[in-house]
Amino acid sequence: PSSLPASVLDLAPVVPVVVIEDASDAVPLARALVAGGLPAIEVTLRTPAALEAIRGIAREVPEAVVGAGTVIRPGQVAEAVAAGSRFLVSPGWTDVLLEAMRASGVPFLPGVSTASEVVALLERGVREMKFFPAQAAGGAAYLKSLSGPLPQARFCPTGGIGATSAPDYLALPNVSCVGGSWMLPQDAVAARDWDRVEALAREAAALSAGGTC
Ligand code: 3PG
Repeated sequence: PSSLPASVLDLAPVVPVVVIEDASDAVPLARALVAGGLPAIEVTLRTPAALEAIRGIAREVPEAVVGAGTVIRPGQVAEAVAAGSRFLVSPGWTDVLLEAMRASGVPFLPGVSTASEVVALLERGVREMKFFPAQAAGGAAYLKSLSGPLPQARFCPTGGIGATSAPDYLALPNVSCVGGSWMLPQDAVAARDWDRVEALAREAAALSAGGTC
């Protein structure tokens, strides 16, 4: 695989969050996302097919930058990296998990949803985080409020974000990208309607047009 990204947040303004039930869907799904302009793809480690999906994308879709999401145990870190993950995302963090992610050498995003968690990560030298669950935890207004006292922290909000709410986040100074699954409707994936996924990905990629990431 090609070189590692320096930062997860600078990969792309919109990061699709993918739940793969059938590993054979991974490559065509990733190709549709890349064709629509979304090359950074987070495959969640929530299904038995996830690692095989990451392997397939890493091997067969060189234009994609595939990462692992829902990394919640230290033991998942090495598995995810061995499968070809070029970044790691977690909905939360502990010191043990943080050390495993750090030791992997791969860029990572631990998840936070409170000011105290942000302060704790800053204490540990981590400035880039996932804000999860973004909509339920307070949305763009909440993240905007954090930018006053904690301007050092940069976020990728994820969780309940859609095409309508994504621009509110992308307009914030402490947000570089947003994550979400809205470009992957369950019925489209079930029907293997990759043209529809590509069209939705193209719309999502256009949300950030004019912005930098
Ligand atoms: C997740 O980790 O589940 C992501 O936050 C995806 O969120 P969404 O499916 O609500 O977009």
